[in-house]
Amino acid sequence: MDESGQAPWTVVDNIGSLVTNDPELGRGPLGVIRDAAVVIGDGLVRWVGPRSRIPQGSSTFRHDLGGRAALPGFVDSHSHLVFAGDRADEFAARMTGAAYEAGGIRTTIAATRDASDAELDRNTARLVAESLRSGTTTIESKSGYGQSVADELRSLEILARHTGEATLLAAHVTPPEYTGRTDDYVHLVIDEMIPACAAHASWIDVFCERGAFDLDQSRAVLRAGVSAGLVPRVHGNQLGYGPGVQLAVELEAASVDHVTHTTASDVDALAASSTVATLLPGADFCTRAKYPDARTLLDAGVTVALAADCNPGTSYTTSIPFCIALAVRELGMSPDEAVWAATAGGAKALRRNDIGRITVGARADLIALDAPSHIHLAYRPGVPLIREVWKDGLLR
Ligand code: NIG
Ligand code: FE
Repeated sequence: MDESGQAPWTVVDNIGSLVTNDPELGRGPLGVIRDAAVVIGDGLVRWVGPRSRIPQGSSTFRHDLGGRAALPGFVDSHSHLVFAGDRADEFAARMTGAAYEAGGIRTTIAATRDASDAELDRNTARLVAESLRSGTTTIESKSGYGQSVADELRSLEILARHTGEATLLAAHVTPPEYTGRTDDYVHLVIDEMIPACAAHASWIDVFCERGAFDLDQSRAVLRAGVSAGLVPRVHGNQLGYGPGVQLAVELEAASVDHVTHTTASDVDALAASSTVATLLPGADFCTRAKYPDARTLLDAGVTVALAADCNPGTSYTTSIPFCIALAVRELGMSPDEAVWAATAGGAKALRRNDIGRITVGARADLIALDAPSHIHLAYRPGVPLIREVWKDGLLR
């Protein structure tokens, strides 16, 4: 702190290539500035531009990146972090031919219900720390492995200690005690779970899929969430064609996630909407499923985000760099499109304009790479390129 009680500002200097995600600040849609600097103060970006024009006298500390690349911290807009146990055996069986079924979620529900609060808190903290190390500075997470009023509520209470972006996924799958009575479970969600949990979440999500919740059940849950002040997001079109995308558009959801199986009318509906299509290639990788067709979505004008979908069933990864590499190699995205989707795209999926960009007034969340450009995130798959992570203006 200086005499005025303010923490001194820092200039992050000698950035060889900086992705700002503001086309007015630099080259191309990512607004790339060569030989850049960023001035950080009190957790926010205070100045950004070519280092030849750093304003004089604004900063006390100079932090030299030695010509490395920097970009906004990743915004991972889809994860499931509150759970116990793992499903390594289920994964191994899938890799030798078994199909993924939504019912596998019940294994994790049982383990989560049995776990203590401390165990769930430790596991969530471990995954948030792991994702921060791989460059994620904002992470959304869902409940959804409790599926009772008390267990969903405690999942959200645990999440609140680790992220400000919490989603009530009350309708993830019908829990075992409601087998054959999915409509009764939907009533429990609407009449008890949403009223008990709404104050602890920002978003309401539903798994609208064969083996989980159908169109009418999903719509009823999302509408009840909206009435309780939550904004909808949808798991849709993951395992097959279905109504998830159209429902998301109908309810002006912030995002529809997975979007692996889409018809032309799904793509048209998304393109004409403000709903983001969040692609989760880690899930398609870990279930040996087909990948979504990002090229068709992007060419139609759909806003695309990329997220890791960290969960013990279908995508036990927190690595956005891994997802970027998959998106480029398997989904038909360019490196620039993938990096945008994992930063600015994630921010749009969370309806945030203070993250996912390096612009004056944005949160000072940024990553420095052990590489000369952001393209290396896809070009050097599996290599730990995240050298530094700054969150809220602090080097973590
Ligand atoms: O996003 N699709 C639904 N939920 C998770 C999978 C959860 C699980 O299998 O435990 C997903 O892929
Ligand atoms: Fe998910």
